[in-house]
Amino acid sequence: MKHNKKYLNSGLALLMLLAITLLGSCSKKKDDFSDRKVSFNSDWSFHLNDSIQDKDTIGASTKWRTLNVPHDWSVEGKFDEKSPAGYGGGALNGGLGWYKKTFKVNAEDSTKITSITFDGVYKNSQVWINGHYLGKRPNGYIGFQYEISPYLNYGDKNNEIIVKVDNSKQPNSRWYSGSGIFRNVWIETTDKLHVAQWGTYVTTPKVTAEKASVSFETTIQNQNTASKKATVTTTIFKEDTKVTSVTQNITIAANANQTIKQQTQVETPILWSVEKPELYTAVTEISVDDKIVDQYKTDFGIRNFKFDVDKGFILNGKQVKIKGVCLHHDLGPLGSAINTRAIERQLEIMKEMGVNGIRTSHNPPAPELLELCDKMGFIVMDEAFDMWKQTKTKYDYGNDWDKWHKKDLIDQLLRDRNHASIFMWSIGNEIPEQWNEDGVTIAKELAAITRQYDKTRPITAAMNPPVNMNLDGVNLQFEKAAVQYNKIAKSGALDIIGYNYAHQTYEYHKQNFPGIPFIATETTSGLQTRGYYDAVSDTIKKWPVRWDLKFTEGNPGNTVSAYDQVQTPWGSTHEATWKVIKKHDFLSGMYIWTGFDYIGEPTPYEWPSISSYFGIVDLAGFPKDVYYMYQSEWTDKTVLHIFPHWNWKPGQTVDIWAYYNNADEVELFLNGKSVGVRSKKGDDLHVMWRIPFQPGTLKAISRKNGKTVLESEIKTAEDPSKLKLTADRSTIKADGNDLSFVTVDILDAKGILAPNANNEINFSLKGNGKIVGVCSGDPVSHESYKGSKHTALNGKCLVIVQSETKTGRLELTAKANGLKQATIVITVE
Ligand code: GAL
Repeated sequence: MKHNKKYLNSGLALLMLLAITLLGSCSKKKDDFSDRKVSFNSDWSFHLNDSIQDKDTIGASTKWRTLNVPHDWSVEGKFDEKSPAGYGGGALNGGLGWYKKTFKVNAEDSTKITSITFDGVYKNSQVWINGHYLGKRPNGYIGFQYEISPYLNYGDKNNEIIVKVDNSKQPNSRWYSGSGIFRNVWIETTDKLHVAQWGTYVTTPKVTAEKASVSFETTIQNQNTASKKATVTTTIFKEDTKVTSVTQNITIAANANQTIKQQTQVETPILWSVEKPELYTAVTEISVDDKIVDQYKTDFGIRNFKFDVDKGFILNGKQVKIKGVCLHHDLGPLGSAINTRAIERQLEIMKEMGVNGIRTSHNPPAPELLELCDKMGFIVMDEAFDMWKQTKTKYDYGNDWDKWHKKDLIDQLLRDRNHASIFMWSIGNEIPEQWNEDGVTIAKELAAITRQYDKTRPITAAMNPPVNMNLDGVNLQFEKAAVQYNKIAKSGALDIIGYNYAHQTYEYHKQNFPGIPFIATETTSGLQTRGYYDAVSDTIKKWPVRWDLKFTEGNPGNTVSAYDQVQTPWGSTHEATWKVIKKHDFLSGMYIWTGFDYIGEPTPYEWPSISSYFGIVDLAGFPKDVYYMYQSEWTDKTVLHIFPHWNWKPGQTVDIWAYYNNADEVELFLNGKSVGVRSKKGDDLHVMWRIPFQPGTLKAISRKNGKTVLESEIKTAEDPSKLKLTADRSTIKADGNDLSFVTVDILDAKGILAPNANNEINFSLKGNGKIVGVCSGDPVSHESYKGSKHTALNGKCLVIVQSETKTGRLELTAKANGLKQATIVITVE
């Protein structure tokens, strides 16, 4: 293990100080300051599931295999109807897993502090270093750190770290959790005098176009046995340019922590916004006798915002409607093992649709998600819990509540409070205690903790609706009475009232909660299978469990129409929800359930379905049609999207929908003959034609003032004939992590997508790389996401290729019986 800190000799430091004072600028760039942490992800040994419960006997096992973390062992297993996790947990098993790693530490580090940080281990981790027990952490979603220096061997002698991960008690989650060291692991080596873990807190109390005041609260830890005199300098950088700095001298007692406050100003600040997510970096340096002993970087944003009772969310003085989505933490075929590129791809797909907000449902996310949201411009609701003391599944976190909730919440706040993208804390999702007095006590406790660590962001909770959602008309008296029962809502603990669903009640909000802003913390829960369409599209179907379409092999059972016509009884269609949100200024915005499909919770079905139908985008990352409704409403991009496909039985009546914008009308032609001009009336979000099927070409033309804006065509496909591969990126980095997401399309001889093709596709890869995921987005498929073959769903399939650490050429080939194969080259550099 090598640390990468650079020490400056005192002469150089003096010179630098002089330069700073004289010139007011520093020659150093932001990236010249070292990150204290280095990755500790590679070369772990892993052992799964047997009766060995004890760390002293596990070492003797011969069943170890080598791997890199982040790692999720559940996704490597088989879907199993009898899995204790249930279909709600994705029918993938938990179990007991052991990880160990052997490593050496430089002799020169023996005078320093070394710590290990886990960004998240699901769940119930216990850690030992060289036989010494470091501790336990039940919560799988929060990061934690242990100091290991007192127990390390330095120089040539080995060290061994052992991690026991116990996810054997099931069910403990309402969705697929994954199991194992599923987030990054880091080693941090610092001087004995250093910035503490999560030791900086950067706020911007006053922000105008001319000036921003910036405050730093920095916690310095002195692990020396003597007191220390030191200088703490905090420098703000914008990219590579030094903006300003503040310096303070301190005396810190032996074995003590001290928090210092520093203040400065940034002239004409460049504000963080959704469109231009501009970040600054604060570099904290601690010097002793003119020698820099510690450096610590904190990215932050300068922006001002408020949630207004009448105008909703105001960012930098401008009203911004939050067009958000809820995301669970799994990455589809990659399971829950985080990969920064995979998260970035999800966010890119969301951005392209017009999404500007992410809710981290229902737990602290991977730090990388927040870093990407800072950089890409998303309005994040950072959520802490899916339950408090009262459990939702037998073995969930409710069992750990009493002992751990305080620490877990504080750690989340300390970890996350510098992120520019976070605008709200959610203290819980659909908490059962919201209806009783316990809920008031707990809500007040959580709110007090939150305000103690961050007063700059409002607190909300995603509360269950106050009315029975099966009521289409809402009676205000009834609604008022129902609100009386919602004890959290009335407790005063919340700064923003947040409802899940109940879009029928939003209009009554102001009467019920005068003076409190409102947000739709969760909406919609529409249900769709990509590429599958029921013949008649204009009846709304509400399905909790769909018994009428039982799954049998070969039947299109357990599929849901991808017209926006199916919803849960507690939810609403995409269009119905957005129409309400868009109408009222006081509605700050919405977080749709969900942006992406996720593993588990296959409502409206049970087994054999194992992944969700809620996503606007399927599990593989392929958009369902409603994606384009949002794109037409939420972006400036000109849209004309017509669907479904054009392969039906002769004479069958088919509904054709078009989502469009920037045009007055759309005309549809079937084989050259007009079938009518349509335009959206009132608050319509799509237009429709109902015609008998006839093979050939459907062509839509959108027009504005009589002039063509866009044209779009769908053609009847012949039999499947060939495969086509398209990589999202054909050059990836040779860092052993980077990914290329390759789409497989099944085409007919003329190159038209075969919309019903479900061929099994076999993949092979030549070169230094590996296939790490395959997926079609089919919630009923039980094929492994980790194999090298997969059955396509409605003409499409995805294969994910990962680099190794060698540069070169990767050649990916896809083959299917009776189809012409395809090959694509991916360059690794
Ligand atoms: C909500 C819940 C989500 C998810 C969703 C499905 O009530 O908050 O976690 O279960 O229902 O519709």
